[in-house]
Amino acid sequence: MANDPYLLEVENIWKVFAEKDSVLHMEDYLSGKDDVSGQVVAVRDVSFKLKQGEVYVIMGLSGSGKSTLIRCLLRLIEPDHGHVRVKGQDVMAMGLKELTEFRRTQVAMVFQHYGLLPHRTILENVAFGLKLQGVKHKEREKQAQEVLEKVGLLKWARHYPEHLSGGMQQRVGIARALVQDADLLLLDEPFSGLDPLIRGEMQDELLRLQAELQKTMIFVTHDLNEALRLGNRMAVMKQGIFVQEGTPHDIVMNPADEYVQRFVQNERQVYLLTETTEGKSKVSHVTPLIGGKKEKIAAGSGR
Ligand SMILES: Nc1ncnc2c1ncn2[C@@H]1O[C@H](COP(=O)(O)OP(=O)(O)OP(=O)(O)O)[C@@H](O)[C@H]1O
Ligand SMILES: [Mg+2]
Repeated sequence: MANDPYLLEVENIWKVFAEKDSVLHMEDYLSGKDDVSGQVVAVRDVSFKLKQGEVYVIMGLSGSGKSTLIRCLLRLIEPDHGHVRVKGQDVMAMGLKELTEFRRTQVAMVFQHYGLLPHRTILENVAFGLKLQGVKHKEREKQAQEVLEKVGLLKWARHYPEHLSGGMQQRVGIARALVQDADLLLLDEPFSGLDPLIRGEMQDELLRLQAELQKTMIFVTHDLNEALRLGNRMAVMKQGIFVQEGTPHDIVMNPADEYVQRFVQNERQVYLLTETTEGKSKVSHVTPLIGGKKEKIAAGSGR
């Protein structure tokens, strides 16, 4: 594993949002000049690498730059500086055609509010990405049915999104990402609109799917419980910067500054307790408090 190539390499990504009449001089930022009025540095010199099969969590308060960063990875937002490589391919160097192909086949994204197409059935919604890829009708129905089975929604295939609860709709969002069979999944707060119990179930579902499929994922969340349950590694983001990166254990036990400390302070007690009662600490043995209830995490997520 140590010598495996990286599936994703992100180097020195910057994104600065500048008001219309304000000219962006990236070289000023790179040489350490302070922020310019009328410009927001949403992502500041972020680098990280992921190996196949890792679940990497990005956590941070609202406005810290999480969504901007993950959108930069597939150039839904164009970064102002830096490199992104997926399986060695230079995403920044791609022309439009290549980029479109890359987005259709190599990477899939799940958003907070998935926005299913209301006048298409669940099956058609899931198969839609395959249609864009030019997959024939029969084949795409077959593949869509397979992933709907994986997320437990096959019997809803002929229904419309309005018949499904929020949690079920988000499962469709995940099915829609999975059907692309992309190596890299980007999930931007996919569960944050769900109530705590459903959210816990969705996390279980994701862990189960991950044990089976071994995808590489970046998962954005505000929620430390969720980060601890799902992540192999995580980063805490503040004002566009990665203030700390490490295993969930590192982050909880050795918060780098006060900001990280604030995120982890409640969790630390639970974590320490679990560590002393269960011996060596493992993320899968953390006992988070979800919706005020203690819930035991199933070990053996395959990670
Ligand atoms: N299109 C834009 N134009 C100008 N500023 C923007 C734009 N998009 C984001 N920003 C700013 O960039 C910063 C980072 O925003 P971003 O949406 O990436 O944060 P976030 O961490 O995803 O927040 P949340 O948790 O609320 O989703 C914020 O200050 C935001 O106001
Ligand atoms: Mg966001």
